[in-house]
Amino acid sequence: MSDDAQDGQNEISDTPQGDRTITVVAMPADTNPAGDIFGGWILSQMDIAGGVAASRRAEGRCVTIGVKEMEFHKPVHVGDLVSCYTDVISVGRSSIAIKIEAWTTNHYHQTGLAKVTEGVFTYVAIDENRKPRPVPK
Ligand SMILES: CC(C)(COP(=O)(O)OP(=O)(O)OC[C@H]1O[C@@H](n2cnc3c(N)ncnc32)[C@H](O)[C@@H]1OP(=O)(O)O)[C@@H](O)C(=O)NCCC(=O)NCCS
Repeated sequence: MSDDAQDGQNEISDTPQGDRTITVVAMPADTNPAGDIFGGWILSQMDIAGGVAASRRAEGRCVTIGVKEMEFHKPVHVGDLVSCYTDVISVGRSSIAIKIEAWTTNHYHQTGLAKVTEGVFTYVAIDENRKPRPVPK
């Protein structure tokens, strides 16, 4: 088995899936004690991107109800440009499931595009009383 096959990298696509929804710079304040970017920060950026995409699709307020199939493929480093791509994969009565991928590139040269994280986030459209409301057709 090749090194790539052993670490699963051969299964990672080289093209982002979905629309680029947000791009941010990973800052020193976002690191874990080992110096890499904290996984919780990456999750937070993905949730922000998914919330934007869900609110657009639902034409209003949405909340996150679940996160699944999260995978951290590669570390993120200080100074990386982190872009979150969103793709609505299903819409229920009030829920919207969104595949979210986080990709990094070098801050200065915008080279070395790499998928670092992906997951499926589910949002629920809510009304002014915080109750689920139907997603518009
Ligand atoms: C979102 C919330 C209003 C839903 O209320 P609820 O009474 O549980 O609503 P329902 O049981 O009718 O479920 C609503 C939808 O979510 C779906 N759902 C419920 N639990 C789910 C889960 N764990 N994963 C994915 N979808 C889920 C249901 O299938 C339903 O989808 P549908 O309407 O498309 O068929 C409520 O759970 C809530 O306020 N949660 C807290 C949200 C929050 O604070 N998020 C963090 C900050 S954004």
